[in-house]
Amino acid sequence: MADKDAHLSGGQARCPGTGWHDLMAQDSRTPPASLTEEHYEYLGSGPIDASRYTSEEFARLERERVWPYVWQFAAREEDIPEPGDYTVFENAGRSYLVCRQDDGSVRAFHNVCLHRGRKLRHEDGATDRFACPFHGFAWNKDGSFEGMPCQWDFQHLAAEEMGLPEAEVASWQGYIFLREEPGGPGLEEFLSPLPDHFARWRHDECTTVIWVAKEVAANWKVTAEAFMEAWHTVVTHPQLLPFTGDCNAAYWNWGDNINVNLVPFGILSPHLDPTGKNQQWIVDEFIKYNGRSADNYDPAGDPFAVTVPDGQTARSALGAAMRRMYTDQTGYDHDHATDAELLDALVYNVFPNFAPWGGFMPNIVYRWRPGKTPDTCLMEVRVLSRVKKGEPIPRGAAMHLLGPDQKWTDAPELGGLGDVFEQDMENIPWVQEGLHCMKNGKIRLADYQEIRIRQFHRTLDRYISGELGRGK
Ligand code: FES
Ligand SMILES: [Fe+2]
Repeated sequence: MADKDAHLSGGQARCPGTGWHDLMAQDSRTPPASLTEEHYEYLGSGPIDASRYTSEEFARLERERVWPYVWQFAAREEDIPEPGDYTVFENAGRSYLVCRQDDGSVRAFHNVCLHRGRKLRHEDGATDRFACPFHGFAWNKDGSFEGMPCQWDFQHLAAEEMGLPEAEVASWQGYIFLREEPGGPGLEEFLSPLPDHFARWRHDECTTVIWVAKEVAANWKVTAEAFMEAWHTVVTHPQLLPFTGDCNAAYWNWGDNINVNLVPFGILSPHLDPTGKNQQWIVDEFIKYNGRSADNYDPAGDPFAVTVPDGQTARSALGAAMRRMYTDQTGYDHDHATDAELLDALVYNVFPNFAPWGGFMPNIVYRWRPGKTPDTCLMEVRVLSRVKKGEPIPRGAAMHLLGPDQKWTDAPELGGLGDVFEQDMENIPWVQEGLHCMKNGKIRLADYQEIRIRQFHRTLDRYISGELGRGK
């Protein structure tokens, strides 16, 4: 509710007490500008229509005016390391073969036979030749037409006109993107200022070690937006409060495509009463949480199990332990790494559906894709880990697709994250149901902590209105 005594203009209010900038000033190392230069643009306080999440008409507008014109995260380089390796990437009514070429480049072809329209492939694999399983029309892995049986009956078709239609492909830090329609900004411009920020974190030195996916009974935007703010922690994930600065987080946005939440760990949530809780208590709670899902938890083998020296903070003690551990594990010197880059949730979003975490820890990467109706989507969670210095990048982990009756906690490789996602799943399908039966049909957003959601919808509107996209 608006406070009658408050005189701050829209978006100026912040949670009282320690803020993100205070933590940056206390960090054991000098933070980069990407973590200190506030970049918050207030974008208004008006409501958002619930129908954007529920209507087939809106989903159709997204398919026609948004997806073909944006750079879509399609694969990681380590998914298709060898010539001939391909992955089937499907999204928003399109299907692509993303295929490694002999010269190491990657090309993306529409995965549909130009005879009578069978999908050429429905699973990932390796080949030099895509022959259609129906009548045998065949294409080389560079998309050129190879031929068909009974050629005498197709004298009206010229091989030069039978190449598979192709999408633009570009790559950044190990992420392969495609864009269906040519024109518009190049990838690095589209991603700006992400390449600048991630220059320190170098995801091209990483490989996918975990990849779990699940169909979720909610619109892709409902699901994505549940990961765009941390302030639901107090009610949805209370087990994180002893070591999470949920409402100390910073929320910044740049232009149309990029935003971030910077959520500090290793501090007490402002929602908890600090009486009797010293810095060691915070660490002990963090350890309990990290060890919770392990069968035989051994504190001796837990790098988080630190004793906080007098006069130090839990963050600096945990940061020092992580700095040592990542240096040992990877062979890369982490001496310059800030506590924030070793501990915190630096969660970026790239419009429309790609969300890589920054920092030096194993990085989570989210992706959300719309389902066949506005009421479903596919949510994917990858974890990227830095490959030891000097060693080749190994092939990435394959996707572990959970079944409809499985929970995120049925993917043991996710550890404690599975519990957190399951708590999110306790809300997400109910949000979808609620949006369908909402009386006034109006979503209300926080000015600061939900700025990422507001920016996301403003950009969607810009594509749908034609201000962006369609070759611009
Ligand atoms: S549909 Fe592909 S060869 Fe006939
Ligand atoms: Fe959550």
